[in-house]
Amino acid sequence: MNKASIQTLMAMKQRGEKIAMLTCYDAGFTPLLEQAGVDVLLVGDSLGMVIQGHETTLPVTLDQIVYHSSCVDRARRQAFLIADLPFLSYFDAPTALRSAARLMQEGGAQMVKLEGGQGQLERVATLAGQGVPVCGHLGLQPQLVHQLGGYRTQGKEPQAAERMRRDARLLEDAGAQMLVLECVPTTLAAEISQSLSIPVIGIGAGPDCDGQVLVLYDALGITRQPPPFAQDFMQGADSIEAALSAYVSAVRQGQFPARPLSSQQAPA
Ligand code: KIV
Repeated sequence: MNKASIQTLMAMKQRGEKIAMLTCYDAGFTPLLEQAGVDVLLVGDSLGMVIQGHETTLPVTLDQIVYHSSCVDRARRQAFLIADLPFLSYFDAPTALRSAARLMQEGGAQMVKLEGGQGQLERVATLAGQGVPVCGHLGLQPQLVHQLGGYRTQGKEPQAAERMRRDARLLEDAGAQMLVLECVPTTLAAEISQSLSIPVIGIGAGPDCDGQVLVLYDALGITRQPPPFAQDFMQGADSIEAALSAYVSAVRQGQFPARPLSSQQAPA
């Protein structure tokens, strides 16, 4: 079976078919996610929290992402594979290029993800110019947790929302081919998804993005204190396989995440 490509995901966006993405860190889970129909596997630096037990993603190293990405890649048959550039592995364009080369050459990643907007445009353009597919990440950027003073929704104030709209557009113009929006108000995420031609994947960003991503351990109810936007798909499922299939089907049907009550029409 052919592996999915960025064109596969672009075509899904154009057809209005929702993209199901989950984080994945090892060869054991990879076939389970693929059999459930997950389109995109993300080797996220969330592994620092859910696997290594750190409080933030900051301690995760490039070597560790390369290791986990290569584990996933060895077991992978068809899903698209994205790997995170960890904290400070892209502090300038040459460093970003060297780090991305390792994720692709040793880790088997088809795309790399980095956090940030306007400040990252030079890195994004350099990577894209050298044939490295890039996924941007706006909204809550966990690598900035100490600057932000915690994990909370971003883009609520009009100025911050405007900055996010602008950053999203600039990232696409610089060559990013996908965008993750984390903890962003539903209406802003919907607007950004509609205004870009690249797929926009939401996490805690409402149901109107082109697709959804969750941390695998949150979706399986393993995380002790999951974020409020997560859903435990093991509830009502009799196996991990059934839970993963329920996640994919809820994403495809636009049922996950549920629309916030404030944006639903009042019953007649
Ligand atoms: O590291 C990660 O798992 C991520 C997702 C939360 C999008 O970046």
